[in-house]
Amino acid sequence: MLDLDAEVLHEYFREVIGWAGSLVPEQPRIVDLGAGTGTGTIALARHLPGARLTAVDVDVEMLGRLHHRAVESGLGDRVRTVQADLDGDWPEIGPADLVWASASMHHLADPARTLTQVYATLRPGGAFMITELDGFPRFLTDTDGAALEERCHAELARMRQEGGLHMGEDWGARLKAAGFELEGERRFDIVVRPPMPENAVRYAQITLERTRDRLADRLTADELAALDTYVATLPNRDDLTISATRDVWIGRRPA
Ligand SMILES: C[S@@+](CC[C@H](N)C(=O)[O-])C[C@H]1O[C@@H](n2cnc3c(N)ncnc32)[C@H](O)[C@@H]1O
Repeated sequence: MLDLDAEVLHEYFREVIGWAGSLVPEQPRIVDLGAGTGTGTIALARHLPGARLTAVDVDVEMLGRLHHRAVESGLGDRVRTVQADLDGDWPEIGPADLVWASASMHHLADPARTLTQVYATLRPGGAFMITELDGFPRFLTDTDGAALEERCHAELARMRQEGGLHMGEDWGARLKAAGFELEGERRFDIVVRPPMPENAVRYAQITLERTRDRLADRLTADELAALDTYVATLPNRDDLTISATRDVWIGRRPA
């Protein structure tokens, strides 16, 4: 799903990678926090041929995939992986010109502590780019499934809140409180309409299946059956759209 995110929402992704590139010197050292399968790491390495990147994640399997992909793309000598739980003691990963955290800050237990650690990881004048999302993308906005999708999103948001995820944080205020200068802040409202990019249906299927699994004991039997029907009929529909939001903040450690 992480890979599909970057692939299907590619216009937004290209723009945000370009923005990141504009923040750094010519041969930057970049740390990708909670790098996952490496969508950010690999895109940044391609966009910035002089960059050296350190991808950090707690999940060994994701890092294995990222490493394989870096080697396959001829980027193996510029990308290293570090396995670490960022809620614990941080490994030696600085000094960095850019720390990039895409959809990972909300997973970490203590935002203030994390921001202090990022500050210490950056060289003076370095930038921290945070991207966050408000949930899964939506696909059924213009269909008869809009109300059900809305209900699923409300329920998923409740679950995240109960699980203590830091979604919906005001990262701009948090950056300033941690001593960063707030250099940029932008919301991307992403809407993809037909003709849909390749893999859009697969993206919708995986997202709705995952929604169904997560909400299996929170939706009624009728609602679950309706979700199953949407998943099964997705390939035949011509009324799908993809909508998602991404919020980006840039904090600068004062020089
Ligand atoms: C939603 S994924 C985002 C992945 C990637 N940044 C992207 O945009 O595609 C969140 C990532 O954060 C990682 N993560 C969550 N908690 C973590 C922790 N305590 N320490 C390190 N990584 C963590 C997960 O393993 C996962 O790869």
